[in-house]
Amino acid sequence: MDSKIINWGIIGAGKIASKFTSDLNAVSHTKLYGIASRDLKKAQHFASEFDADKAYGTYEDLALDSNIDAIYIATPHSFHKTHTLLCLNHKKPVLCEKPFAMNLEEVNEMIRVSKKNETLLMEALWTAFLPHFQYVQDLLNKNHFGKLIRLEADFGFHPQYDETSRVFDKSIGGGSLLDIGIYPIFAALSTLGQPNSIEAKADFFRSGADSECNMVFQYDSAKAILQSTLLEETKTEAIFYCEHGTIKINGRFHEPASVNLIDKNGNSELKTFDYKTIGYSYEIEHFNQLIRDGKTESDIMTFERSQQLISTLDTIRALIGLKYS
Ligand SMILES: NC(=O)c1ccc[n+]([C@@H]2O[C@H](COP(=O)([O-])OP(=O)(O)OC[C@H]3O[C@@H](n4cnc5c(N)ncnc54)[C@H](OP(=O)(O)O)[C@@H]3O)[C@@H](O)[C@H]2O)c1
Repeated sequence: MDSKIINWGIIGAGKIASKFTSDLNAVSHTKLYGIASRDLKKAQHFASEFDADKAYGTYEDLALDSNIDAIYIATPHSFHKTHTLLCLNHKKPVLCEKPFAMNLEEVNEMIRVSKKNETLLMEALWTAFLPHFQYVQDLLNKNHFGKLIRLEADFGFHPQYDETSRVFDKSIGGGSLLDIGIYPIFAALSTLGQPNSIEAKADFFRSGADSECNMVFQYDSAKAILQSTLLEETKTEAIFYCEHGTIKINGRFHEPASVNLIDKNGNSELKTFDYKTIGYSYEIEHFNQLIRDGKTESDIMTFERSQQLISTLDTIRALIGLKYS
């Protein structure tokens, strides 16, 4: 069964689709079968670059192809729900990019349709599958340095302002919070759980998309200081301060990274991980296994975890007054 090749299709021939495909081609018994774009020529170009069998000029054509076993949704956030439903309603397993959708209501609808069609659905929150992140979660669960007291996590980069880019275009979900703030928030939820309260402040571009967002999550005996920004390059680290030492995921913490364990005397030990791909291969392997096992939900990136993540984003949006139409 494991030797059967899983034929993948991708919706949206943009930037992340290219990176994801390089990793897809590195996973055994896996192939990019088809690529769908709104522009057939663009799809054909992508297919020839990445050696896909088929190129489609509409997303529907890909969803209808009976040779496809799995579909990766790589369109801007505001289309995730529509494109996911299109595929699920054709009984195609869906791996959908983060954020899963624009709000909890949309995510709940996607989960409902996945359950109704008994078809696999998972949010492509790749960090959850990376060995260094799982290693740190494991250390924290075991109270390696005692209890976690404070997390500081940031994600910042400084792209040229361009209202036509999806990163800044509010009409398709642009802004720092949904695009990159999701990662520090995911780090907090994965290690400290649901906060008792949240404070948040943001600044905005002309387009109305948030340029940066600063957040504080309060817990009974811990806090998380989180930041996303499109105004400057930041270290993009996740630093877990515990009672008897510190665990630091070096930048950029959300992608393949190394980890420093620093004890209370300041002795530091560097842990490295044998990453051979960009890092998307881990979520792809997991998703392939779910298909092979006939599962409809991941046991790692569960529906509950995605719901918790999107409802936290909803709460922060309400606090900073960020509304999408
Ligand atoms: N996991 C990660 O590391 C990671 C990294 C980057 C981005 N992402 C996520 O992936 C998604 C896509 O990001 P990206 O950077 O690849 O974006 P992108 O380069 O702009 O590509 C998005 C693609 O979506 C399609 N699309 C459909 N309707 C569109 C519309 N109205 N406007 C623009 N594009 C439209 C286009 O493909 P066609 O023209 O071919 O139809 C476009 O090329 C986002 O949700 C983002 O959060 C994840």
